[in-house]
Amino acid sequence: MLLPLLPILLAATATISPALARALPANTITSHVIHEKRDLVGGTGRWSKRDRIPAHVKVPVRVGLKQSAEAMEKAQGWLMEVSHPASGKFGRHWTQDEIIEAFQPASEAVDEVMAWISETASIPKQRITHSDNKAWLAFDASVADLESLLRTEYHEHHDAATGRSMITCDQYHVPAHLVDHVDYITPGVKGIHVHTSDLKKRSWKPAHHGPGGYGGPSGWQPPKQRPAPHMPKNGSELSTCDVAITPACLQALYHFEPLPPNAEVSPNNSMGIFEEGDFYDQFDLNSFFTNFTSYIPNGTHPTLDSIDGGLAPTTNLSEAGSESNLDFELSIPIIYPQTTTLYQSDDLYYAEGGNGTTGGIFNTFLDAIDGSYCTYSAFGETGNDPKLDPTYPDPNGYQGQLMCGVYKPTNVISISYGEQEQDLPAFYQKRQCNEFLKLGLQGVSIFVASGDTGVGGIPGDGAANGCLKNGTVFSPTQPNSCPWLTNVGATKVYPGRTVYEPESAVVDPASQPYHSAFSSGGGFSNIFPIPDYQTSAIATYFADYNPPYPYYYNGQYNSSDGLYNRNGRGIPDVAANGDNIATYVGGKFGLEGGTSASSPIFAALVTRINEERIKAGKGPVGFINPTLYENAHVLNDIVNGTNPGCGTDGFSCSPGWDPVTGLGTPNYPKMLKLFMSLP
Ligand SMILES: *[C@@H]1O[C@H](CO)[C@@H](O)[C@H](O)[C@H]1NC(C)=O
Ligand SMILES: *[C@@H]1O[C@H](CO)[C@@H](O)[C@H](O)[C@H]1NC(C)=O
Ligand SMILES: *[C@@H]1O[C@H](CO)[C@@H](O)[C@H](O)[C@H]1NC(C)=O
Ligand SMILES: *[C@@H]1O[C@H](CO)[C@@H](O)[C@H](O)[C@H]1NC(C)=O
Ligand SMILES: *[C@@H]1O[C@H](CO)[C@@H](O)[C@H](O)[C@H]1NC(C)=O
Ligand SMILES: *[C@@H]1O[C@H](CO)[C@@H](O)[C@H](O)[C@H]1NC(C)=O
Ligand SMILES: *[C@@H]1O[C@H](CO)[C@@H](O)[C@H](O)[C@H]1NC(C)=O
Ligand SMILES: *[C@@H]1O[C@H](CO)[C@@H](O)[C@H](O)[C@H]1NC(C)=O
Ligand SMILES: *[C@@H]1O[C@H](CO)[C@@H](O)[C@H](O)[C@H]1NC(C)=O
Repeated sequence: MLLPLLPILLAATATISPALARALPANTITSHVIHEKRDLVGGTGRWSKRDRIPAHVKVPVRVGLKQSAEAMEKAQGWLMEVSHPASGKFGRHWTQDEIIEAFQPASEAVDEVMAWISETASIPKQRITHSDNKAWLAFDASVADLESLLRTEYHEHHDAATGRSMITCDQYHVPAHLVDHVDYITPGVKGIHVHTSDLKKRSWKPAHHGPGGYGGPSGWQPPKQRPAPHMPKNGSELSTCDVAITPACLQALYHFEPLPPNAEVSPNNSMGIFEEGDFYDQFDLNSFFTNFTSYIPNGTHPTLDSIDGGLAPTTNLSEAGSESNLDFELSIPIIYPQTTTLYQSDDLYYAEGGNGTTGGIFNTFLDAIDGSYCTYSAFGETGNDPKLDPTYPDPNGYQGQLMCGVYKPTNVISISYGEQEQDLPAFYQKRQCNEFLKLGLQGVSIFVASGDTGVGGIPGDGAANGCLKNGTVFSPTQPNSCPWLTNVGATKVYPGRTVYEPESAVVDPASQPYHSAFSSGGGFSNIFPIPDYQTSAIATYFADYNPPYPYYYNGQYNSSDGLYNRNGRGIPDVAANGDNIATYVGGKFGLEGGTSASSPIFAALVTRINEERIKAGKGPVGFINPTLYENAHVLNDIVNGTNPGCGTDGFSCSPGWDPVTGLGTPNYPKMLKLFMSLP
């Protein structure tokens, strides 16, 4: 996906900007450098530059301060300290205040930037706010004052896709000695929306609406329910698990029992599930629980944490969501009487794609569970990206402000949504990945479905077959490639097999045609390098089961004949059953398949482990990958099956870690024993 007007950060180069109509203080001119400049090449015609903004218009100004680079460098080490089983500090997760403290900019930087603003723009220091997360200075200024502070001009930029306007400039300057302290300033190259009513009062012509039409493919597709050959006879029947996976089948596969319905559970261990644009309905949950569990009362439902106008359930059966129903029908039977928390994100307009105007994902969710993320600067991107993420208030939907830090993250969060790496700019993904790291530091475990298109992507996303370059290069999934979360691939009980035999990857290469509706996502990131905890597992895989494809290094597929990145983060980490899952959707019983199922299953079992740890006076497990890679024996190694894509058979399962089913499926008693033995 190409971004129009993609801002680029310039190294400190040229000095004075040419066409500055309003006067500049002459004395300091030479000490200023261009801080950011708009990349005018490659626009798609969606944005057009209009009138100059009147001098008296007041705008909210944000100066993003560079986060402690030193801290971000150390952060991976800090995460390992609290997550590696051999660390004396295992489980000693950080509080949010400790995170803010560790990542804040140096106080001299804050003082110097403050002095510059107050001296140049005549804004008294007491009118400049230093944000709670320490990352921002905020103040209101007239456009005239800001133009002279930043030696620039502000214009209206009109977005044809949404009909909205932003205040932006083409480039702006800061004093040379502050370049290393200032990350980003808005309004700047990145614009801000302004209430049209404010402008109207000041007789500035508001934008008129234009046509839409910009956008890339939205990567995620909900699982589709298909008819079941027959309904399992009853909720405890295990002889038909090769036909339909019920809660009883999962209990038999992973060796766990439900908790007694009256068990005491922690009030702080609800399991979080992310949804967007897909909604559960109570009627189907009732049918499922009544037919397949004896212990879940009719009417059991998640607690809604509504994000930016996201609402659920739907009461209209024809709008029942196959993803949401699947997630709750799988996880509630595993954790009941523990509760589920539904993070339903974004109002309908944006959840359904914003009419093609958004391609971003997860940022509004992360904002809602961590307020500091709303204004976090990294990789030249501060806060949400107004061209990729929803902007609130939404003229087409939710009228409230963007929600920042309104909910506490649950100990475990399951996400069955995603895109391909190539759909989003690398800086967008890296900034988001830092946030997953910070959540891990705070003890949050995040599980993500690894994708349902094998080594490729969804057809049309990239080449016609969903692959990169000319359709031959494998396309890794996002956010999976971030090393600080746990990716879950899918396994299956092959026809005629039982729950007492090993599972296999969903695609059986020996069976033609493949009796699977999908291919489990796996491969190697083109953006993120191999994290330390995965180094040895990947080296063993390449040494003992080298895949039969040419490869390249450092994500450079364009300049090579390789099909995958040899030194990228491997996907997935683990696996769980994901095919022929019994569900009720829209009043109908049927089967669903996808890694969408695997993630909530794995996440629910980790919620059960946290339950036991909390009972024993311990904390939640947090980021589990380092512990699992050191103790692969607590997982059932999957050695059969493949993940075809891009016209190849994909990768093959093999003993040990592989890019199809990772380390394998949960053996609950072994995992529990391991995590209970850690502090
Ligand atoms: C989406 O954009 C298309 C093309 O501009 C337009 O015809 C349609 O009405 C828009 N739909 C909504 C819901 O805004
Ligand atoms: C349900 O199936 C199990 C296993 O086949 C069987 O033992 C049990 O009797 C069945 N229960 C009912 C109520 O049919
Ligand atoms: C658990 O939650 C309760 C109620 O929300 C709260 O009072 C308590 O401090 C929490 N305990 C821990 C260990 O976080
Ligand atoms: C159980 O499933 C049957 C068959 O699909 C359905 O008709 C019935 O309504 C379900 N039972 C309940 C209590 O929902
Ligand atoms: C479950 O609750 C719904 C109302 O939420 C009710 O209509 C339905 O009859 C109940 N089903 C059973 C089996 O009690
Ligand atoms: C239910 O949803 C369907 C599909 O979106 C829609 O066509 C129908 O009008 C809705 N019914 C009601 C009563 O809202
Ligand atoms: C490969 O080339 C395509 C098309 O020119 C470009 O969009 C993409 O960013 C390049 N990717 C890499 C990793 O160089
Ligand atoms: C695609 O690229 C690969 C590697 O550069 C090359 O070997 C292959 O012939 C190309 N295929 C097509 C259909 O152009
Ligand atoms: C792997 O698959 C082959 C072919 O379907 C089968 O013969 C073999 O028993 C399977 N092995 C395991 C461990 O499931």
